[in-house]
Amino acid sequence: MNEEFHYKGGELFCENVPVKQIAAKVGTPVYVYSQNHFLSQHAAIKQAFAEVEPLVCYSVKSNGNLGILRAMALAGSGFDAVSKGEVYRALRAGAEPGKIVFAGVGKTPDEIDYALEQGILMFNVESEAELEAISRVAAKRKTEAPVALRINPDVDPKTHKYISTGKRENKFGIDLARAEACAKRIKELKNLRLRGLHLHIGSQITYADRHAEAIDKVSGFIKQLKQQDFPLEFINVGGGFGISYHVGEGLPIADFAAQMVPRIKALGLKMISEPGRFISGNGGILLTQVVYNKPSGDKDFLIVDGAMNDLLRPSIYQAFHLAWPVKSPGLADGPVLGENSPIKEEGPDDGVTYDVVGPICESGDYFALGRKLPKMAEGELLAIFSSGAYGMSMASNYNTRGRPAEVIVDGDQYWVARERETIEDVIRGERLTPRESFKAKA
Ligand code: LLP
Repeated sequence: MNEEFHYKGGELFCENVPVKQIAAKVGTPVYVYSQNHFLSQHAAIKQAFAEVEPLVCYSVKSNGNLGILRAMALAGSGFDAVSKGEVYRALRAGAEPGKIVFAGVGKTPDEIDYALEQGILMFNVESEAELEAISRVAAKRKTEAPVALRINPDVDPKTHKYISTGKRENKFGIDLARAEACAKRIKELKNLRLRGLHLHIGSQITYADRHAEAIDKVSGFIKQLKQQDFPLEFINVGGGFGISYHVGEGLPIADFAAQMVPRIKALGLKMISEPGRFISGNGGILLTQVVYNKPSGDKDFLIVDGAMNDLLRPSIYQAFHLAWPVKSPGLADGPVLGENSPIKEEGPDDGVTYDVVGPICESGDYFALGRKLPKMAEGELLAIFSSGAYGMSMASNYNTRGRPAEVIVDGDQYWVARERETIEDVIRGERLTPRESFKAKA
């Protein structure tokens, strides 16, 4: 599972490819993905939840590279999209429209129209106003729109506050207290079909009872809807399965399944799940190169060519990402992540304590602070692990930096799945003010 990135003979491999080969060919910074990781995590969820006939809708926002989406589509995955762009991406990669679910609090009429035209599985509806909007668009198209009500169950997911979505104060979903009226409205509107309920309480959840509590909160409502003859088929439990960013915090998927499967079975519904990070998180690394060493007062800065525009998570969530040199002579062979990792988080005895920072003009531009690593020299490669989810998908062009290339590895093959952005790519669409329209102030 987490073995796709491993050290062998003091050197980092992705599957069977030494990652230094990729850096030499494609340059840095570069995201490197293990295709096998994505596929095996998908298979693991299917297996753990087999009893409730799961439709896995991989969350495009976590990593929407077309090559990745193609591999997922070929493996039979569905997709969770949150914009017209993500629906388009999934379809471009070969997704079956009937396996796409569409969430998000601000779907516009244009987005709704596009998704209806494509024939998606359902909209996860987040408000009364959105129900009305979907009904209007469906009426214009003279069609019926499939919907699920996204319920805000007011459950604490016990995760970072920015990625908590199922508490009453969060903007997502509909209060249970208002949901009954929504169901009534769906009946009145005729051109909406209620196919399920949707929950998504947060991300990087590491307590299996959180999802269970959310399901329990809606089970009474589901029974009620069934009694009222709503054609419910699905409970969509959202995403959120947490992963390990080194050792420890992630749970085996079987632990989630053990609590969730009996509850879902008792409801008599099929399960949809929308995992993002669980599938993509440990499927990718960001490879970066040391530009300078900068001893300064009581600490050493390790200045690398990757930055917060490439991988934002440390800057905005203070997220921990393991970082380690690609070349690590003497390091025991073994998988980078999990209990058998040869990497010790406290670093080697003879290591140097670094702030690993990028070149961007912000003090928040860092990958690791006060981290003890083997001593590194200019030009050496550093891997930032667990960067497959919300890495490239949150990258920006801040400081006019082209976004990194992305490479997919499959066994001993690899290919560029997205070219590095050039500066011309970055400024494409910008216009110079015509000289003649420029009026200088006196
Ligand atoms: N379904 C819905 C409706 C979502 O909003 C999300 C994520 C997912 C599924 C997938 O969640 P996952 O399985 O990946 O936890 N940028 C943050 C994470 C934001 C998550 C947003 N919603 C981060 O880097 O940690």
